Amino acid sequence: MAALACAVAVWAREPVRSKKAMVVAQEPHAAEVGLEVLRNGGNAIDAAVAVGFALAVTLPSAGNLGGGGFLLVRFADGRTNFIDFRERAPIAAKRDMYLDASGNLTKDSTVGWRAAGIPGTVRGLELAHSKYGSKPWAELVEPSVKLAREGITVSYALSRSIRGSASLMGQFAESKRIFLNGGKHLEMDDRLVQSELASTLARIAKGGAKEFYEGETARILAEEMKKHGGLITRRDLKDYRAIERTPITGRYKGHEIITAPPPSSGGLGLLQMCGVLEGSGYEKAGAGSAAAIHFLAEAMRRYYADRSEHLADPGFFKVPVRGLLDPRYVSGVRQSIDPDRATPSSEIKAGKPGDYESADTTHFSIVDAQGNAVALTYTINGGYGNGVTVPRLGFLLNNEMDDFAAKPGFPNMFGLVQGEGNAIAPRKTPLSSMTPTIVTKDGKLYMVIGAPGGSRIITGVTQVLLNVIDHGMNMQDAIDAPRFHHQWQPDKLSLERGFSPDTVALLEKRGHQIDSIRAVAVVESILIDGGWLQGATDGRGAGKAAGY
Ligand code: GLY
Repeated sequence: MAALACAVAVWAREPVRSKKAMVVAQEPHAAEVGLEVLRNGGNAIDAAVAVGFALAVTLPSAGNLGGGGFLLVRFADGRTNFIDFRERAPIAAKRDMYLDASGNLTKDSTVGWRAAGIPGTVRGLELAHSKYGSKPWAELVEPSVKLAREGITVSYALSRSIRGSASLMGQFAESKRIFLNGGKHLEMDDRLVQSELASTLARIAKGGAKEFYEGETARILAEEMKKHGGLITRRDLKDYRAIERTPITGRYKGHEIITAPPPSSGGLGLLQMCGVLEGSGYEKAGAGSAAAIHFLAEAMRRYYADRSEHLADPGFFKVPVRGLLDPRYVSGVRQSIDPDRATPSSEIKAGKPGDYESADTTHFSIVDAQGNAVALTYTINGGYGNGVTVPRLGFLLNNEMDDFAAKPGFPNMFGLVQGEGNAIAPRKTPLSSMTPTIVTKDGKLYMVIGAPGGSRIITGVTQVLLNVIDHGMNMQDAIDAPRFHHQWQPDKLSLERGFSPDTVALLEKRGHQIDSIRAVAVVESILIDGGWLQGATDGRGAGKAAGY
């Protein structure tokens, strides 16, 4: 089996290599914007601000002003910070707001004005810049104004992505006018000009986050919300704050993993699954083998059961972070795995960790010439969010309210079954799966990683990290390798294309219910190894790694 793993490595695709700095993003124009900032002496935070605004123009399915996310930074001297600028529930939000008179879930948590949480992106990027940026704010926002005003040439990927969401966006006049070209689809090589968005960005370049949350942008957003039955008010916008949190950390085979704390469920998932794997010897079966897939899938299944019950906004719910990562608890999870048989999810309930305590998206990874690193994942949740482009402002709104348990115990749009802890409440943050992560080895920066992909972000990031650490793959090879996903409920092991029929048969023999899936996350990552930066963008998307 080990020999087979080596044979696979012969086909390895080389990552993009550079010596000084690297940006990997899910869209090429945005990656180029970030690279330009770095070449001009900007630091990783400067580049992150510029890429974040550029993606709001060039990757409208996920890049945003109308959503939120997480920024993880590690400075060359080892300091870290985590900025939570995730959307929060408006003050008028209610626990049962997405249930009809019979108590059934409606589509309002995913489509239309009422699905939006209070956007956090502009506040989050400004907070990062005010603390750590070195270049003038306006200079970093300006490239996005230009991209919106002058337009971008529509790529095949963008044309296809917009077509895929035509039925969603066709329901809302501004989205139909701008992104569906009034009903005549944008084809490859057409031009997408976003004039209203350019004006909004120009005001933000001049007035900063205050403009978005208290200025003309806030006034228009609140007016349009009211007109269309949305919940977000001027007060909600004015009160929105990004939160600095301490990242959670853990170790795997001598590497330190620095990752996302709650309200993300991603970091805990990554660390718990690594803990379950370490010392199990699962990797000896070889990358892609049925035995290795089985063991990891069983770890995934168990974590997602824990996630359903124990994870939520820590401001509202006591998340047993240390309990879920306690070596005795993790060892119990490991021992509950039968290496030869899948445990049906119906037999798995969330564990009882000890009481030690007094969550379409996009990701980019950046390393600057000083060795500072940023992993930033942000989102409007589903592709093109709730489908609404705000009239006069030109940006799409999120449908992040669906990341709450709109009806605890019932699945959301990612099929995730979530508990009471994640029920809707005013000013609460919905649980996330976003997993921006930075790994060090011997105290030195080793990997910057993250991904979009809803509930599959956690398992996607975990597998790519394991492909490097356990299977010796380069960054590109680790991303290219086929991936799989299990999230407890539904009880299915979902496989991407690329696993052999023999492997699938062996997994079925172990009792797994196999399902096929197009993609388990879209990972954008950088590896620092042997004096080189290895930048790798995921072929499941259409991004770019750019370095110098
Ligand atoms: N909206 C996807 C996530 O935050 O998990």
